[in-house]
This record gives sequence, structure tokens and C-alpha cells, in this order.
Amino acid sequence: MTCESFPTEAELAAALGRRIIDAVRQRPRLVLGLPTGRTPLALYQELIRITGDERVDWSGVRTFNLDEFVHLGPGDRGSYRTFMEERFFKHLNIPPANIGFLDGRAPDLDAECERYERAVTAAGGIDLMMLGIGVNGHIGFNEPSESLVARTHRVTLDEPTRAANALWFDGDVQRVPREALTMGMGTILQAREIVLIASGEAKGEAVTALLRGGVTTRFPASFLQLHPRVQVMLDDLVAGQLP
Ligand code: PGA
Repeated sequence: MTCESFPTEAELAAALGRRIIDAVRQRPRLVLGLPTGRTPLALYQELIRITGDERVDWSGVRTFNLDEFVHLGPGDRGSYRTFMEERFFKHLNIPPANIGFLDGRAPDLDAECERYERAVTAAGGIDLMMLGIGVNGHIGFNEPSESLVARTHRVTLDEPTRAANALWFDGDVQRVPREALTMGMGTILQAREIVLIASGEAKGEAVTALLRGGVTTRFPASFLQLHPRVQVMLDDLVAGQLP
């Protein structure tokens, strides 16, 4: 695991944005794994800005988002699909058929998880997976637990996770769904390359555990230590807290 820090979140987003744009240019059929949350917002804005300035062509790119709330899907307020449409997809020319997403409104959620696994495999796997990290060490919605499910599956969300997501539901934690669908850690670890981004004071402890702690299902992000190509990108608010 390599680790790099940047003075500000904006500088981190600029560096990673440039790297992703270069990857899209070099490999027009790139397969990207994408997160939602507060963390990637600056990155998505940067990618949209560069795309406008430099006329970047995303028409061959495929994407797979990490997770979605159960009972929410395209067009629903608070769904991760809507988050991604508004903040990223609608600003680029990725064909809708190339956008891989879990549908939390699918009639059979187990079948939906299996469909998603097959779709990732059919795309040839994920080339570059971008991740955030939860304050509890979750990745996607793989919450700390006695054991982890390797493949895409349905999960019950931890209360701190629901609280952190109230932001997308007008601050009302009661409206945050109790369950979600998420890529499993096994699916995530099959990506050829992984970049984890962490910014802001609240992430200091989690990143310390990620970099220095043991590998444990009680801290799902720790499994990233087992992957040969993980880069951790931090702003100074996080880096300043590392021992
Ligand atoms: P955040 O979420 O970017 O909103 O902090 C990160 C995560 O939970 O993975």
C-alpha cells in the first residue's frame, strides 16, 4: 500500500482527476469502480471540469458503482443512483448501457446481486476502483462484522453509517434506509488497481487503522492490505493525524 498526502482536498482531487483522465485517454474502454459520499465530490467536479476544458471522450468507459440502498433506485431522491446521475454521469458522455449500478428496487434482491457479479465479470473486471472509507472502517457498505460476505450482497447498515448518510436525506436519519446492497470485499479486491481517498479531520483514526492495524473483519478496509496495488490519497487534515 502506498500513501501520498496533499495540502488540500482540492489538490488531491486535481492529482487524481488528472490520473483518471490520462487513464481514460490511454485506455478508452477503461472499467472504473466508483464510490458515492462526500469524499469523491471534489474529484467528480474536477473530472467534469477537465472533460469540459479538454473535450475528453468517455463513450467507451464502463462504470460500476459500489452500492445502493434497498428500496431506492433510479430517479429516487436519496438513491446513490440519483447522486451519481446529478453529480457525475449527466455531465459526461458515458452511454447509459455502460453504467453498472445495483438497483435497490429490484423485485428479487438476491438475483440482483448475482446479476451485478455477472456484469462485472462480463466487463472483464474492474481496472481502477476508487474508494472512500467509513469512520468505522467500512468499504462500500461492507460493515464491521464477525465475518464478511465476499461477493455482492444485501446488508443491514450500522447506525453510524446511517447517521453519516442523513446528509443525503435532508439531515433526517429516520429516512435513511436500514438496508443496502453492496459489492463484497472479494469483488472489490479483484480490481486490478485501487485508489482509496480520505479527506477531512473525521477520517484520521480510520486511516491510521487502515495503514497500521491488523487485517480483521472488524475493520473491513484492513483487507486492502492484502492487495498488491493500492494507493491511499490523503489530505493534510488526515495525514497530520497519522502517528
Ligand atoms: P463519505 O463516506 O465520503 O461520505 O465520508 C465514505 C464512505 O462511507 O465510504
